Amino acid sequence: MTVPKYLFVLLWLTLTMTFTVYLEPSGHHFDIDPDETILDAALRHGHAFPYGCRSGICGACQGRLLEGELNYATDRPPPPGARDMPRGTTFFCQARAASDLIIEVKEITAVENLTVKTLPVLVQTKEQLADDVMRLYLKLPQDEHLRFLAGQYIDILMKDGRRRSFSIANMPRNDHLLELHIRHVEGGDFTGYIFEQLREKDVLRIEGPHGNFFLRENSTRPLLFVAGGTGFAPVKSILEHAFVEEMSQSMRLYWGVRGEADLYLDALPRQWAQQHPDFRYLPVLSEAPPHWQGSTGYVHEAVIADLAARNEDFSAFDVYVCGPPAMVRAAFAAFREHGLDEARFYSDAFEFQAPKTGG
Ligand SMILES: Cc1cc2nc3c(=O)[nH]c(=O)nc-3n(C[C@H](O)[C@H](O)[C@H](O)COP(=O)(O)OP(=O)(O)OC[C@H]3O[C@@H](n4cnc5c(N)ncnc54)[C@H](O)[C@@H]3O)c2cc1C
Ligand code: FES
Repeated sequence: MTVPKYLFVLLWLTLTMTFTVYLEPSGHHFDIDPDETILDAALRHGHAFPYGCRSGICGACQGRLLEGELNYATDRPPPPGARDMPRGTTFFCQARAASDLIIEVKEITAVENLTVKTLPVLVQTKEQLADDVMRLYLKLPQDEHLRFLAGQYIDILMKDGRRRSFSIANMPRNDHLLELHIRHVEGGDFTGYIFEQLREKDVLRIEGPHGNFFLRENSTRPLLFVAGGTGFAPVKSILEHAFVEEMSQSMRLYWGVRGEADLYLDALPRQWAQQHPDFRYLPVLSEAPPHWQGSTGYVHEAVIADLAARNEDFSAFDVYVCGPPAMVRAAFAAFREHGLDEARFYSDAFEFQAPKTGG
């Protein structure tokens, strides 16, 4: 049987077609390919959409579909329409466009004015901080600066087009030399390369800044930080910035790792605690040795126990959580049971990048 030529043309048109997404209430708009999520397309065009897990779980990216048709990839969690949510609710990290769209979204004004740059950077220092954690200092070209908000991340662009995300660990004031804390992922292409092959004076390409995990400086509420492993990196950036800006509210950091050796910069938060009376630091070990006197177990459970011991709940705090996706999800679910104001929960889940772009 011969297939009519017009069917090929129709298929070709469908595959190469782009749609337009119109945003309410800002009136902005951008083009979108049928195979990318609305969130990916928005970020690619520099629109500051809110998001967290990028896996359809946390709901941080939600908004409303006002007009148009959506598509969902089959291997993703069920779309919000299939859950118990108001009509039109859409998780933009999951939904794709099947037509032109009009959507309602709360764009984040704080990151709107930052320019996303692609730059070559020189590896100035490579320093091993633990068996599986490497610190890199990346120097920008002369006269170049990367304006970012404390807590944001950059993508490192690999030669084959893939990209890998890493949080900036230094405060924004030092915008010519970027500090990264990179955990070696077993079997990981890029982190393996960093540990085994990358040398000082090598050149990498970066793109950034990205992300909505940044300090909300207009809030005066007490700040509670939970870091898992190298989730300490953006928290370090935020805390150093907060100290320099002399933010006056109380702050506390719970750093969850397996063993003592994984607290790869333990002396630093201890020093902050000595210098700043309103700052508390609690390391939490999930595989504590017998001599360990501090908190043990899962970090989110240790946080809940610590608050309970002080007759506190989460309602008063702005909560910042960063690290492995499972930890971020567990923390969100558990803190919600203990009075968390969901609008005051900010997170970055260290997801693996999707094979194609990782965007
Ligand atoms: C916003 C953001 C900020 C980040 N910041 C930091 C940071 O500051 N420091 C840091 O150490 N890390 C950070 N990460 C995580 C970091 O990007 C990954 O560890 C890194 O991309 C791993 O790259 P790789 O090429 O070594 O691993 P890959 O080669 O991509 O994968 C590593 C291993 O995991 C497996 N794998 C791949 N995908 C999955 C999956 N979905 N589920 C389970 N296993 C999978 C692979 O088979 C492979 O064995 C961040 C991630 C995000 C999204
Ligand atoms: S559900 Fe979309 S970012 Fe978490």
